[in-house]
Amino acid sequence: LARGDLARDLAGRHVVVSAGGTREPLDPVRFLGNRSSGKQGYALARSAAARGARVTLVAANAALPDPAGVDVVPVGTAVQLREAVLKAAADADAVVMAAAVADFRPETYAAGKIKKKDGQEPAPLTLVRNPDILAELAGDRPRPAQVVVGFAAETDDVLANGRAKLARKGCDLLVVNEVGERKTFGSEENEAVVLGADGSETPVPYGPKEALADTVWDLVAARLP
Ligand code: CTP
Ligand code: CA
Repeated sequence: LARGDLARDLAGRHVVVSAGGTREPLDPVRFLGNRSSGKQGYALARSAAARGARVTLVAANAALPDPAGVDVVPVGTAVQLREAVLKAAADADAVVMAAAVADFRPETYAAGKIKKKDGQEPAPLTLVRNPDILAELAGDRPRPAQVVVGFAAETDDVLANGRAKLARKGCDLLVVNEVGERKTFGSEENEAVVLGADGSETPVPYGPKEALADTVWDLVAARLP
């Protein structure tokens, strides 16, 4: 393909990207959160838009500027992210879950600020499971040909963990990166292996998050009908 063709290979497609990290509120001033900056998801949104796609970016608490020409839907919690992603996914050709979704949320939300009292131990924090949005998307596709992509940050046997997770989630592609210094959280760079449900393995060398984004869209485009 000439570069000009490649540049517009997502024209006429609608893609949904989730980015950032969910925050699960405890009270009006506190939440349980994570270190996701949103940079990888935003890079995916910019790349898809540059390749001609209509892009819905479901953005959880990312302090980043809205990418030009992208429909940004801001959300806070995992439950809100699920609502927004499922709604946008209804007519989407591909969904990429780059967001770090909290696995658990506090069972109760205190409408007033939680106060400490002299001589009193803190009350234990009870957590409940959040819905698994990626597994739900992959298992119940509004369009059978929709391509569903997940992300996973792993330690230890990164590839074996990634393979098991890909099978468990039922998605088409899983971008697996090793958690470590310099890499992943807040960084401008990333290094990953993209695992395919078809058994494929695409290594992406250490480099800008834009390069990983482009590889993801290459692999998605190859799987679109
Ligand atoms: N994900 C999701 N909903 C959740 C948790 C995760 O959609 N409740 C998505 C993430 O957006 C990501 C993928 O699933 O694309 C993998 O997330 P990860 O946290 O690695 O998976 P978990 O199944 O939560 O596994 P772990 O116990 O290792 O955290
Ligand atoms: Ca998790």
